[in-house]
Amino acid sequence: MAAIKNLMDKLVGLCKRRGFIFPSSEIYGGLNSCYDYGPLGVELKRNIKDFWWKAMVQTRDDIEGLDASILMHPKVWEASGHVANFTDPMVDCKICKARFRTDEIKPEKAGQCPRCGNKDSLTDARNFNLMFKTYMGPIEEQANVVYMRPETAQGIYVNVYNVMQAARQRIPFGIAQIGKAFRNEITPGNFTFRTREFEQMEMQFFVKPGTDMEWFEYWKAQRIQWYDALGIRKSKLHFHEHTEQERAFYAAAAFDIEYEFPFGWKELEGIHNRTNYDLSKHQEYSGKDLSYFDDATREKYIPYIVETSAGCDRTVLTTLIDAYDEDVIEGEARTVLHLAPVIAPIKAGVFPLVKKEGMPEVAEKIYHDLKKHVPVFYDDGGAIGRRYRRMDEAGTPYGITVDGQTLQDQTVTVRDRDSLVQTRVASDKLLPFIQEKMAGYKRLE
Ligand code: GAP
Repeated sequence: MAAIKNLMDKLVGLCKRRGFIFPSSEIYGGLNSCYDYGPLGVELKRNIKDFWWKAMVQTRDDIEGLDASILMHPKVWEASGHVANFTDPMVDCKICKARFRTDEIKPEKAGQCPRCGNKDSLTDARNFNLMFKTYMGPIEEQANVVYMRPETAQGIYVNVYNVMQAARQRIPFGIAQIGKAFRNEITPGNFTFRTREFEQMEMQFFVKPGTDMEWFEYWKAQRIQWYDALGIRKSKLHFHEHTEQERAFYAAAAFDIEYEFPFGWKELEGIHNRTNYDLSKHQEYSGKDLSYFDDATREKYIPYIVETSAGCDRTVLTTLIDAYDEDVIEGEARTVLHLAPVIAPIKAGVFPLVKKEGMPEVAEKIYHDLKKHVPVFYDDGGAIGRRYRRMDEAGTPYGITVDGQTLQDQTVTVRDRDSLVQTRVASDKLLPFIQEKMAGYKRLE
């Protein structure tokens, strides 16, 4: 795939036009960094979450699921360090009032506003806490402050022994959760890459101290393989090891999985060896003993945690960027999303070649039969080439066409979105044919 000019602008346009992602509250002019998922987007996002949940929970015996509340006891955020340390240093422009993270100001342009260009216009840096605050109950006073969780991880830590006992798990084991997180980012941007409300897909794996680096390497390998299975091109993914400055003081190791976005290599997911920091802190602040007793070895210890922390919205954006392509077919330009079939919102389009000779009736029957098993879309409007292209742009991997021959021998053509090869298939064998093709899908670089 060749590099595409103005890819982000084109993708934002396609997302709006085809109903993947809309600006939030658009009729009121939108709300900065908030987005709504439309009919195709909500399916894509759901498929990605299901794909993660299947890999991380349903196909494993050593990971359990959890759905913790967004509002938690305020002491959680004191124990976790978020109240004191979850800050970004920021500066304001005294002239145009724009606000920047200090790491966005180039050292050679210190004091100069990147937006209006005025020199010596920036305030001194001050720390800004990224947590959204709200009040529990009707009285807005300090004692009633609660926070919108800035990560899902803490809900897992405080439930570790609830889950362990209820599910009769023993260490090593993990807890996985998908849910919303909120950060009052100073500079959100790049479409849904950095927003103030987003979803995370996090898994915390509890291990015996001393085995942590082995598990860390195991999870690094598992997680990069997951993006490959998701259909992201391998050449666009790499690991970035945190430098001493980037790594949290308590972390024994930290790597990011990064993707090469049109705006540079950026983090998709963090994999961290968090040592016993989190449970030690919650033990200190809650006064509860959070150590684990191993019956078999008679050892008692505070478990170490290996975390895999992925952004769901960021993964949706990555699949769209990675899938976006433009080519020319029989002299006509087409826009296509090479989404992996497992996450594609619609698996097949069903088309009668023409709206006569009984073809629509046959196509409708195929559509209704398939729809019981896989999401399909029926379209009889316009030239067949245009109908194919509409589905290409939605990322639909297969196009099923009922034509004159169907009426003779009950076969249809199945067009492959990527290779454009058309295969004749008996209409009563369509479901296994599509399922087999989906299972055998391989993303081309
Ligand atoms: N529990 C660890 C944790 O939250 P993080 O690196 O701050 O780690 C994990 O966040 C992932 O969440 C990131 O890799 C990214 O995919 C996603 N994420 C973080 N902030 C985000 C934001 N403002 N908008 C969208 N996704 C975000």
